[in-house]
Amino acid sequence: EKDGYEHFMMKEIHEQPKAIKDTLSPRLNDEGFIEIDEFNLTKKDIEGFDKVMVVACGTAYHAGLIGKFALEKFAKIPVEVDVASEFRYRDPFVTDKTLFIAVSQSGETADTLAALREAKARGARTMAITNVVGSRISREADDVYYTWAGPEIAVASTKAYITQLVAFYTIALDLGLKNGSLKEEAYHRVIQELKGFPEKAEALLQYKKDIQFLADEQFNSTSAFYIGRGIDDAVAKEGSLKLKEISYIHSESIAAGELKHGTIALIEEGTLVVALATQDHLYDKMLSGIQEVKARGAYVIAMAKEGNQEIYKTANAVITIPDTFDELTPILSVIPLQLLSYYIAVARGCDVDKPKNLAKSVTVE
Ligand code: F6R
Repeated sequence: EKDGYEHFMMKEIHEQPKAIKDTLSPRLNDEGFIEIDEFNLTKKDIEGFDKVMVVACGTAYHAGLIGKFALEKFAKIPVEVDVASEFRYRDPFVTDKTLFIAVSQSGETADTLAALREAKARGARTMAITNVVGSRISREADDVYYTWAGPEIAVASTKAYITQLVAFYTIALDLGLKNGSLKEEAYHRVIQELKGFPEKAEALLQYKKDIQFLADEQFNSTSAFYIGRGIDDAVAKEGSLKLKEISYIHSESIAAGELKHGTIALIEEGTLVVALATQDHLYDKMLSGIQEVKARGAYVIAMAKEGNQEIYKTANAVITIPDTFDELTPILSVIPLQLLSYYIAVARGCDVDKPKNLAKSVTVE
């Protein structure tokens, strides 16, 4: 059942190119437009939203952070993202003009379900992005977007996260075209690029030996810091969570520009820093961020798009991702981070598929 892989997590990491395709293809019609059949949102509904509220837990929350970038960029709608356990207890500002999106792989997470009910009671239009057909959250939301990742067995979420990103990109592009924020030409350019992502993801998986090599060198780290700017900061958060949950290494993620406001005090000789520098307009800023931590002795594994040279002089090791639009990098950049966590956990002898203290679906508060 693991198809020859040692762990479900590795199998699921390898299923990502297919998962991207299976989630994207059914939403593209023959004319190359996005068509999300499950939604009954009219143009009037869409124009009536004054805000989007995304609520989720853990990895799904991290997908929501990318969703915010996509929706604000392509659909020009303000987006708030919150963790479900906070949202439900904070008297949230939600009205009948709010589009509320709950993200949940399992569709059963207690806090996310309670948040959905809260939003509904306040008059929001509710939508679920979930991987499980017929799950509680899918039944209670007004509209459901199913991520066709297939069953996810490993506790650490990988392919479900990647399909949640695809879901957000397609929703953002669809809303953007319909509310007039996105020109048709730009819309088609992004869709065209997205269509190439299953192959790009596949190509990335070929580098796993290099990542295993890095993991075998760094697995004894006692602490790790993930840094990035812009959309990379959101991916860094997911990378950091993946590492801590399966390898039990203390890990945190911090926006690179925030480092000097406190966290840099913790960087010392040999501290592992994973630095994401995939964004063209933030690249130089990230290079100086890397220099800052290097100056304090950090061992830096950096990630950049193929073709960037400067980074090889700055970081200790470099992982590259195929070139693509800045807005879309998260679908690719998360893959090496998943692999890095996986190989570090394996090198430490951890039970990768069933980390201690964690359950696949958290149905209690
Ligand atoms: C991390 C992980 C958890 C879940 C979280 C939400 O790898 O799996 O953080 O993402 O418990 O679960 P769902 O998406 O089922 O609501």
